[in-house]
Amino acid sequence: MNNNVVIFDHPLIQHKLSILRDKSTSSKDFRELVSEIAMLMCYEATRDLPLEDVEIETPMGKTVAKHLAGKKLAIVPILRAGLGMVDGVARMIPSARIGHIGLYRDETTLQPVEYFCKLPKDIDRRDVIVVDPMLATGGSAIDAVSQIKKRNPRSIRFMCLIAAPEGIEAFGKVHPDVAIYCAAKDEKLNEIGYIVPGLGDAGDRIFGTK
Ligand code: PRP
Ligand code: URA
Repeated sequence: MNNNVVIFDHPLIQHKLSILRDKSTSSKDFRELVSEIAMLMCYEATRDLPLEDVEIETPMGKTVAKHLAGKKLAIVPILRAGLGMVDGVARMIPSARIGHIGLYRDETTLQPVEYFCKLPKDIDRRDVIVVDPMLATGGSAIDAVSQIKKRNPRSIRFMCLIAAPEGIEAFGKVHPDVAIYCAAKDEKLNEIGYIVPGLGDAGDRIFGTK
C-alpha cells in the first residue's frame, strides 16, 4: 500500500477543482482550469527539489544565491488527457523536457492499451513528473510508470487531479516508491470504472469530444 499520497488542500486548488467538476463548465474553461491547477500543484510537488549555490552579480555587487541543482526534469503526460496538464507544469519549469506515453483504457476490460511512447533520450539523468488528471483503476498510471522505470530515471512522481481509493491502492502495490500528488481522493469507482463523484471523462471534457 502506498502511504506516499499527498492531497493538496490549498483553497485555490479546491475552488478551481469544484468548478472543474461542475458538468456545466465549458470545454474552454475546463482546459484553462486543468492547466491552472497543474501549475499550482507543480509548485507544491517540487518543494523538495535540491538547490545548489551559485555566484551571481547583482547591480549592487557579488553574492551567492540558489539555483535548482542540475535543472534536469522531464514532464511525461499520459495521452490524451495528461496533455491538459503539461502547459501549467512547463510554465513553472520551462527547461523541462517533455516525453509522451499514449495509453487508452479498453472500455470493456478497463486494461490500458499502449499506442505510443517517446521519452527524452537522457531520461536516466532526469527527475520525472508523470501527469494525468485521473487515477481510476490505476492501470494507466501503473503501466506508464513501469515503462518509464525501464529507462532508469533519477526519480518519478505522479501528479493527478482526482484519485480513486482503488487506484491509489493498486498503484501503491506496484510502485510503492512513487509519490502520488493529487487535489482530491474521491469516494469510489462506479461499475464502469469511472470515479464518483469525479468530473466525468477528462479527455472528452478537455478536447470537447463528447
Ligand atoms: C483516462 C485518464 C487516465 C485513465 C485513468 O484516459 O486520463 O489515463 O483514463 O483510468 P485508469 O486509472 O482506470 O487506467 P482514457 O483511457 O479515457 O483516455 P483519453 O485520455 O485518451 O481520453
Ligand atoms: N477516466 C476518466 O477520464 N474519468 C474517470 O472517472 C475515470 C477514468
